[in-house]
Amino acid sequence: MFDVQKIRADFPILQLQVRDKPLVYLDNAATSQKPQQVLDALNHYYTAQNANIHRAVHYLSETATRAYSESRESVRALLNAAHESEIIFTRGTTEAINLVAHSWGLQNLKAGDEILLSAMEHHSNIVPWQIVCEKTGAQIRVIPINDAGEILFDEYENLLQSGHVKFIGVCHISNALGTVNPVKEMIAKAHEVGAKVLIDGAQSVPHAKVDVQDLDADFYAFSGHKICAPTGIGALYGKAELLNAMPPYQGGGDMISSVTWEKTEYNVLPHKFEAGTPDIAGVIGLAAAIDYVTKIGLENIAAHEAQLLDYATKEVQSIEDFQIVGRAKNKASILSFVIPGAHPQDIGALLDARGVAIRTGHHCTQPLMKRLGLSATARASFAFYNTEDEVDVFVEATKNARKMLL
Ligand code: ALA
Repeated sequence: MFDVQKIRADFPILQLQVRDKPLVYLDNAATSQKPQQVLDALNHYYTAQNANIHRAVHYLSETATRAYSESRESVRALLNAAHESEIIFTRGTTEAINLVAHSWGLQNLKAGDEILLSAMEHHSNIVPWQIVCEKTGAQIRVIPINDAGEILFDEYENLLQSGHVKFIGVCHISNALGTVNPVKEMIAKAHEVGAKVLIDGAQSVPHAKVDVQDLDADFYAFSGHKICAPTGIGALYGKAELLNAMPPYQGGGDMISSVTWEKTEYNVLPHKFEAGTPDIAGVIGLAAAIDYVTKIGLENIAAHEAQLLDYATKEVQSIEDFQIVGRAKNKASILSFVIPGAHPQDIGALLDARGVAIRTGHHCTQPLMKRLGLSATARASFAFYNTEDEVDVFVEATKNARKMLL
């Protein structure tokens, strides 16, 4: 049974008082908090397993190598990838997208080719492609959205008909608006014209069950720190046939099978893309986090968060001048907003004085802000350990902030 109070007891940080108030942490789209189970796994690694992997026959190295490999199976199962070798550990979503851009992109794109990116992409799914365009002469075309923050599917289909589209990059869930994009349908349409698709799963993997085979995604990227794991670890899923055909992204130890001055043979997947000593502790922490959320159940997490979003969306109606930014029909637990006349940063600072943590700014989506005619929003983002009582504190604090600022 889903018991939010029992879950909260697992998170030491949620017991904190900040600014002499109980912490109300509503900045989960930026990063999640970590349960004791993950902290224990990290502690156990450093106190009982620490050694480099794949490099020695001694007991600790074997133990660390086993824990590292088993963690890859956890990620495979989380995403329902067909094979463990299709999971590449990276520093996070950003590095995963950069890997695809610099390996697949530089290998496959040429002048005249088109890359489609949605108008709501995070900078991390824009800038790597701009760099690739500079080097290859390919062009970015933007998939437009409506004022509610939903992709205009007809326009997307039209863009696909140019005969030049080779690649599509789209977020599963928008970090700034909460929109859940119809990625399965988008992938199917892209495949009809032979284009490959990368899904930025940074905001989806922590909040819903993702099945890369059902989606038929070519690449799927996510970050561990948003799903209760440490920072600095994440993963890229890629179809084996694509990853096998791609050149390495970085060179170094572990990614080779043999090196001579004349020629280097690369290692098999996934090692070909994991040069150097990886973030072993992070990988083990990620597996512990996956184990933790899987035991709670991603379906239960999604249901609880949907309830919180519904409740918050209803309650904020009592705040004068409150405008929700992002009103997609299919939305995840992100509530971006503005109060005209009150700067989002001032709202954030006044909420902070009451112990309420939200994010303010452009959310690394400046082109989206421009499309919406805004420079910034305030954003509350909910996780499975948040409660309706916390939403009430947020609503009261926002009412007070409004009163002080207008
Ligand atoms: N991309 C993260 C956010 O939306 C950091 O806050």
